[in-house]
Amino acid sequence: MTGPILGIETTCDETSAAILDADGALASLVIHSQDVHRIYGGVVPELAARDHLRRIEPVVAAALDEAGAARSDLGAIAVAAAPGLIGALLVGVTWSRAAAFALGVPWVPVHHMEGHLFGPVLEDPEAVPPFVALLVSGGHTMLLWAPRWGRYHLLGETRDDAAGEAFDKVARVLGLPYPGGPAVQRLAESGDPSRYDFPRPMLRRGGGRKDRGFDFSFSGLKTAVARTAAGLEAEGRLAEERAHVAASFQEAVVDVLTARTLDAVAATGCDRVLLGGGVSANGPLRDRFRAALAPNGRLFAGSPRISLDNGAMIARAGLFRLGCGEGWDGKGALHDAQASAPIPGVVRGRVTARG
Ligand code: KG4
Ligand code: ZN
Repeated sequence: MTGPILGIETTCDETSAAILDADGALASLVIHSQDVHRIYGGVVPELAARDHLRRIEPVVAAALDEAGAARSDLGAIAVAAAPGLIGALLVGVTWSRAAAFALGVPWVPVHHMEGHLFGPVLEDPEAVPPFVALLVSGGHTMLLWAPRWGRYHLLGETRDDAAGEAFDKVARVLGLPYPGGPAVQRLAESGDPSRYDFPRPMLRRGGGRKDRGFDFSFSGLKTAVARTAAGLEAEGRLAEERAHVAASFQEAVVDVLTARTLDAVAATGCDRVLLGGGVSANGPLRDRFRAALAPNGRLFAGSPRISLDNGAMIARAGLFRLGCGEGWDGKGALHDAQASAPIPGVVRGRVTARG
């Protein structure tokens, strides 16, 4: 491939485009976060698709402009083709496929969650496998052991709600706006995290794993918070207790996510941890990991714009997949928009240091 690569992200409620130089250096990144969903307290799929359609042209034009590149300079186009909202995905997939065809350059569909694995390396060249990856977003909670790029052992996932979903639902219960994560984090700053003893699902008291798996569960925690909030509301005390509820909830999530990930560190013998997905932008979560991994381990976590959904991580994963010979010609696992699909190269369970 000669020339820069354009990466497109339209899986959910961010329309994003980025340009990377052929060697992977970030030249530009533009993210349009849709606000049409705010009044509904969650993403409305049909509105998301329509907004992507309206925004994709200007967002790509702004990314090219910022990079000082013309369409005709492009060497390839990568797109997040799965998983996500099908109408939203179809906008990015259809637009990028048509653009690549018109320009005569390779088109490479990539998996959104593999994109999150490739986020931190855009800012830190050392953020490469081997690592244990915790991917925590609005739709997914996954613990992976990655001995090398393209080889991912799925150690655990959520059995019900995703971590971000729990933040969003708790935010709604506390009367905070969507997306809930940043709002809960902000409110929690003035709260006491030990005021409420919320459940740590699937963890034994005092830490450690209850079962032999690495799965997560957040729906019981979410329900416990909702019940507490409803009780406080009935007593007319919710307003004064809100920050404590937010802080105690956040503390429970941080406890569960770090304990389970550190179990994976122990099992793999690899103390290099990568965080990806929107929830990884959470300050207390990062602080806890940094403290737990010091002094010998490493934590790789991108800046907020790289942790949240963005086109740059898609372009970077696209470069990797192009290097594997994937693209138009039918090689590779993804060929079209798919609402759900496993990460290419994922295998379930096995934990070996060799991979
Ligand atoms: O990765 P992402 O941008 O989109 C998906 O692929 O889902 O993640 C969005 C999720 C939302 O649930 C949002 O509430 C959560 O990430 N989030 C946070 C924070 N910032 C975003 N959760 C906790 N703390 C934050 N600071
Ligand atoms: Zn995401």
